[in-house]
Amino acid sequence: MDTAGKNELTDQACVPPLAEELVEQAQAAARMQTAEYAPGEREELIDQIKSLLQKQDAVLVAHYYTSADLQKLAEETGGFVADSLEMARFGNEHPAQTLIVAGVRFMGETAKILNPEKRVLMPDPMATCSLDVECPEDSFSKFCDAYPDHTVVVYANTSVEVKARSDWVVTSGIALPIVEYLAEKGKKILWAPDKHLGSYVQKSTGVEMLIWPGSCIVHERFKADSIKKLKLKYPGAMVLVHPESPAEVIATADVVGSTTALINASKMMDAQKFIVATEPGIFYKMQQESPGKIFLEAPTGGVSATCESCMRCPWMAMNGLRNLKDVLESGGNEILVDEAVRRKALIPLQRMMDFAKKRDVVMKGEGNA
Ligand code: 13P
Ligand code: SF4
Repeated sequence: MDTAGKNELTDQACVPPLAEELVEQAQAAARMQTAEYAPGEREELIDQIKSLLQKQDAVLVAHYYTSADLQKLAEETGGFVADSLEMARFGNEHPAQTLIVAGVRFMGETAKILNPEKRVLMPDPMATCSLDVECPEDSFSKFCDAYPDHTVVVYANTSVEVKARSDWVVTSGIALPIVEYLAEKGKKILWAPDKHLGSYVQKSTGVEMLIWPGSCIVHERFKADSIKKLKLKYPGAMVLVHPESPAEVIATADVVGSTTALINASKMMDAQKFIVATEPGIFYKMQQESPGKIFLEAPTGGVSATCESCMRCPWMAMNGLRNLKDVLESGGNEILVDEAVRRKALIPLQRMMDFAKKRDVVMKGEGNA
């Protein structure tokens, strides 16, 4: 079975084409957030948000792809900036009764699945993800029904309904060990929705997998040839690649990993220059961890949130100071999920959380040995 694209079984998957208007709508919403501030407006918004977070017993949990302003605010107010796995863990463990999730919709839903008693708000709940859009529950469910002997592993970048149809949820930070664990148990795997991450996991583990053909519109646009050219220009530069990128881009990488893994690599490696194939919001943290190092955007051929060549995720860019303040003031944009679906989705999600916890204990033990 060809797991890298020509898989005739995955050709049965019914993937809706990603509507260009959806991206345009996100870009328009993102532009409203990034529109130039009147003198003093930005500082005023930051002060207002800080005091509203306190008043509302709310904590801000932001993804590495959000703007530097939001990441800084999360850090300064006792919140958290992380990858999707650690966002879920933090929200689950923090005592605040209101979680403000700055990221994309599946991150807010994940927080709600794990914390039904908490209020989960998002600056813009319309901030979706191409992987989520390309994996509608009805056709995905039919696909799963056709392979009842397969263990269904879905990436966290999916709707609550798709999670509810799965056996395991994974993030890029934990996909490899979970698939290896399932393979050791002799399980056959049906993977969704990211074909590039699925193909990377398949190649790395050697496990036979059926792969749903979704993709991330941001990572899909990186170009291997242009990365190689840039590497010739900066011979000592290390190439860091998120595994949502196509196989030929992954092949140029010195390090492949989740957002956290890439940040850690940029900190630990001796190199002074890095070519980074992921969303550029990550540069805030990379620069903070290694102020003297140089981070270069990997070249692409696409159009993104607010310019022609940069790689901003149009949906991540919908989070801004303006809508963050509004949501704190109004208490609107609450993420609600159907209780029966939530309970079903909790099972595979909790499996991942428990697996991650056990893995941490083992890793700590090995570190101490
Ligand atoms: P991480 O889990 O690595 O944060 O990735 C989430 C995501 O949406 C990447 O595009
Ligand atoms: Fe989805 Fe890609 Fe944006 Fe991540 S970067 S949220 S995978 S569209």
